[in-house]
Amino acid sequence: MHWLRKLFAKQPQDDRDASQSNAYDIIGGDEVIRLIAHDFYQQMQTRPETQALLAIHRAPIADSEQKLYEFLSGWLGGPQLYQQKYGHPALRARHMPFSIDESMRDQWLICMRAAIINSIKKPEHQQVIIQAISTLADNMRNR
Ligand code: HEM
Repeated sequence: MHWLRKLFAKQPQDDRDASQSNAYDIIGGDEVIRLIAHDFYQQMQTRPETQALLAIHRAPIADSEQKLYEFLSGWLGGPQLYQQKYGHPALRARHMPFSIDESMRDQWLICMRAAIINSIKKPEHQQVIIQAISTLADNMRNR
């Protein structure tokens, strides 16, 4: 259970303690985070059931993918790439321009679940992260 407890242990904002393992290191670091963000948008672009979610995107997908990658890096305990560029994530506020109901949330989670399963090796790690990100996604609902 030790890795589970550490998985979402709060990290110091700017200097990470390299001796302390966290979710970011456990799942494979930068390379795996990039894979997740890339696969997430591949899923969204290819699945018929997520086209409504794809349609509300305004920025080029490559830009959205980059921001998701930067956010996930910090959220999982790695370098705070998003925060360094854009300041506090304030994700709920940043999603207010988009109408997010249960259907949108579910479309988002379909893509994210698949991306996590395709990118993270161990099923037990997949499950912990899917659970945590599902809570975060539900919190993004504003309708
Ligand atoms: C639950 C339903 C969600 C929906 C429908 C949704 C949708 C969107 C949309 C449409 C954008 C704007 C992209 C663009 O204009 O191209 C966006 C941005 C973003 N989303 Fe989500 N999102 C959801 C949940 C999440 C969650 C749970 C996370 C974090 C794990 C997340 C992370 C981000 C980030 C980091 C951005 C970029 C924000 C910025 O700096 O502009 N989103 N999202």
